[in-house]
Amino acid sequence: MIIVLLGPPGSGKGTQAKMLTAKIGITHISMGDILRDAVAKKTPIGVEAEGYLAAGKLVPDSVTIKITGDRIKQPDCVNGFLLDGFPRTMQQAEALAHLLAEEKRGIDKVVYVSVPLELVVERLTGRLSCPKDGSVYHVKYNPPKIGNKCDVCGGELVSRKDDQKEVISNRFTVYEKQTKPLIDYYRAQGKLFKVDGSRSPEMVFEEIKKLVS
Ligand code: AP5
Repeated sequence: MIIVLLGPPGSGKGTQAKMLTAKIGITHISMGDILRDAVAKKTPIGVEAEGYLAAGKLVPDSVTIKITGDRIKQPDCVNGFLLDGFPRTMQQAEALAHLLAEEKRGIDKVVYVSVPLELVVERLTGRLSCPKDGSVYHVKYNPPKIGNKCDVCGGELVSRKDDQKEVISNRFTVYEKQTKPLIDYYRAQGKLFKVDGSRSPEMVFEEIKKLVS
């Protein structure tokens, strides 16, 4: 099964992607995580991407399309995968359709996680991430058990650089202009399933699970 998760910054895509891929046993491909990892390792892609991430702008399509094309050809994608954060532009969506058609595959479902703006700002400003293992927490909705430490590996939790208020605002502008049109694009193909992401992670997950089963 091939699933795409679509939604504004902070809608809970990453949270749901982890729960769903663990449940149904397909590979989770997070474009944000791939890019942040490249930045941390100072690879050529990371060096190119760093300024875009810091400013809340989209990394050029050519870069993310190449990353996705390479990633979905890996053996762990044979039985299916979930794309979290890709595509985000019409050009990326068309490139993805082309890449999948080459392998005689196609997207099965696009899950659009819809959340009102005021809620996502609170989610992003309160998010805590573990730089070591990628675990995600929230100061209010999902606090770590002990202090500012990751429950899984004990690493020191940090706020993502792009979770500062000014950068969040840029990310929303980019989402409205470049990513939101994909909702109609996939709806027209009969692949879009909208879920109300304003409820608890467990309730959202229950609905997504039913949709993809
Ligand atoms: P990316 O990392 O993909 O960021 P995003 O899309 O802005 O999404 P987020 O990771 O901020 O939020 P999320 O929806 O995953 O929410 P989460 O589950 O963490 O991309 C970062 C950057 O990389 C982009 O700005 C761009 O520069 C670049 N990039 C990435 N993809 C690209 C592409 N295709 N093309 C070009 N550039 C690209 O939840 C957020 C918080 O809320 C957490 O604290 C969580 O604990 C909490 N939470 C989650 N669900 C709930 C709930 N139901 N109730 C209460 N709290 C909740």
